Amino acid sequence: MPRVLVTRRLPDGGADPLASIADLELVGPKSDDSPYSHDELVAMAPQCDAIVALLTDPIDATVIEAGSAGALRVVANVAVGYNNIDVTAAAAHGVVVCNTPGVLDETTADTAFLLILAAARLAHEAETDLRAGRWAGWGINQYLGIDVHGATLGIVGYGRIGRAVARRAAGFGMGVLHHARTPSGEPGFVADLDELLAEADIVTLHTPLSPQTTHLIDARRLALMKPTSVLVNTARGPVVDEAALAAALHAGTIFAAGLDVYEREPEVHPELLRAPRTVLLPHIGSGSTATRRRMAELATSAVATVLHGGTPPNLVHP
Ligand code: DGY
Repeated sequence: MPRVLVTRRLPDGGADPLASIADLELVGPKSDDSPYSHDELVAMAPQCDAIVALLTDPIDATVIEAGSAGALRVVANVAVGYNNIDVTAAAAHGVVVCNTPGVLDETTADTAFLLILAAARLAHEAETDLRAGRWAGWGINQYLGIDVHGATLGIVGYGRIGRAVARRAAGFGMGVLHHARTPSGEPGFVADLDELLAEADIVTLHTPLSPQTTHLIDARRLALMKPTSVLVNTARGPVVDEAALAAALHAGTIFAAGLDVYEREPEVHPELLRAPRTVLLPHIGSGSTATRRRMAELATSAVATVLHGGTPPNLVHP
């Protein structure tokens, strides 16, 4: 009898593809929908053929090794990012890993644009003052931001989400530069990240997290950005050195920042919480009802495909 561990409650309909598995035994989520600890995952993995995980579940080498010594054949992450899974250990132990590419691009690009607009136009500071009763009426010098229309947008990481942001930028009449590990061969490609950072008015990050992209935006690179520039991160928190970013915002060496992701979620660096001209969202990049359902469906259909003996299209290759 195939056993599938679903670590957390999925959006309505998100687990429907699992219904195609005969005699399925579903394990989890916990009745209070709290996360499984690492020890619990290690203990349960060998008894399950599949795990449907969230990006908050640590599926490291210990979980993979324990699982592969038992029944575990597939881990499907309900996220496009999979830095919570040790994909190298999974490949070494013959455990298939899947993610959810494609279905969240537009929603995440919407969130990036939300942060671009909100940070550039100081929406958070203005609204906070209004709600606190500190707004005494229209003022010609109040809450002056930078224009998004006509600005130069620097996109770091030019995959599906980066491109979806570029399409939105075209509608705002922005100039678009992009940087990626491999040349895109498209207009606007900048091989040297430092050069892109120095030229862009607004920089938005769309790289996966890897050892190469950890602290990609550090103090040295922040110092290359214009004092009037805006940094937006909807990728993964550790791509930015948060302490260095907070210092740049406090010192005014960049103008503003919009963040959806953090180095140690759910903790947010205390200096970022205190930083001026900063919009902070709680990792809601893909957070629309329709998209979260599509993500869950894609992950659970991958599990169904593997347990039926097939190969899902959304395999992660280490
Ligand atoms: C992902 O899928 O990696 C996103 O961070 C979830 O919003």
